[in-house]
Amino acid sequence: MTLTEIIETFKTKLNPSKTMDSLERTANFYDESENGSGESDSGEDLKSNPYSNSATVAVKSSEATRITLNEKEPLIKLTDVWKIYQMGEVEFAALKGIDLEIYEGEFLVVLGPSGSGKSTLMNLLGCLDLPSKGTVFLNSRDISELAESELARIRGQMIGFIFQSFNLIPTLNTMGNVILPLEFQEEEPEKARQRGEYLLEIVGLSDKKFNLPSQLSGGQRQRVAIARSLAVNPPIILADEPTGNLDTKTGDYILDFLSKLHEKEGKTIIIVTHDLDIVKHATRVVYIRDGEIEKIEERTKNKSEK
Ligand SMILES: Nc1ncnc2c1ncn2[C@@H]1O[C@H](COP(=O)(O)OP(=O)(O)OP(=O)(O)O)[C@@H](O)[C@H]1O
Ligand SMILES: [Mg+2]
Repeated sequence: MTLTEIIETFKTKLNPSKTMDSLERTANFYDESENGSGESDSGEDLKSNPYSNSATVAVKSSEATRITLNEKEPLIKLTDVWKIYQMGEVEFAALKGIDLEIYEGEFLVVLGPSGSGKSTLMNLLGCLDLPSKGTVFLNSRDISELAESELARIRGQMIGFIFQSFNLIPTLNTMGNVILPLEFQEEEPEKARQRGEYLLEIVGLSDKKFNLPSQLSGGQRQRVAIARSLAVNPPIILADEPTGNLDTKTGDYILDFLSKLHEKEGKTIIIVTHDLDIVKHATRVVYIRDGEIEKIEERTKNKSEK
């Protein structure tokens, strides 16, 4: 794949729209606290960052920005969704009639063994792929009826992706990868750089700004991907095995961070994984096996489990 092809793929996946005044619209989500007084309850977020001693930024409580007009309407809805892969003469059904409704503010964990269809499902939930059969609704709109450019715009504004394979651009350094979605939104370079600095501090990679992905460890690449997913501060975060390449401490930190985004900012978090440990953060768990939903379990987040 040439660099141009990679960038084109990203433009499609991360959306080139300029309609979103991302930093203004999302200013309520993050607040850059300079005084470090620890007055806000989020002071703990900083102290618990194992990567940064000098963090001066915090995740603060704020009113969640609602996307759905009617909270009884699901944010994402799948009805009888099938994904059938064609391999020569042979067809393989990776998803078989999935019915699923995801509401704003959920922390949904899709749990299943390798090959059960999790990544396939994530691509459909994130509107990166269309089903072979059935319908995917994003905010009550059938995505198959949207033009690709409009879908890309909505997707870029609403969803931050953390892919299983990171999808970092090999020729861009850490900072370049993190702020790429902001460049597609045509954010002012200085604002994008500041946002990049902030996010790299959160994930503890301020000292790796100029490293290329090939000069990073797997866990560090994972953290770049996480920082990038938060660049435009989207209300939905979709993550495929976000802790798959991380040690326990780093994985816990990232999950606590996602959990805070959920609790304090009302972000909708969807994680697909085979890691049972992530379930403790979930408000609902969907068990998937051989492309089918086995069961769905409602949960109340148990703080003592964290
Ligand atoms: N492009 C493709 N063509 C054919 N089969 C595919 C394709 N992509 C995925 N599959 C098959 O679909 C099934 C589901 O794949 P998927 O990647 O969704 O699994 P997964 O649950 O994410 O697994 P893992 O935990 O290993 O990441 C697998 O059996 C896989 O081999
Ligand atoms: Mg997968």
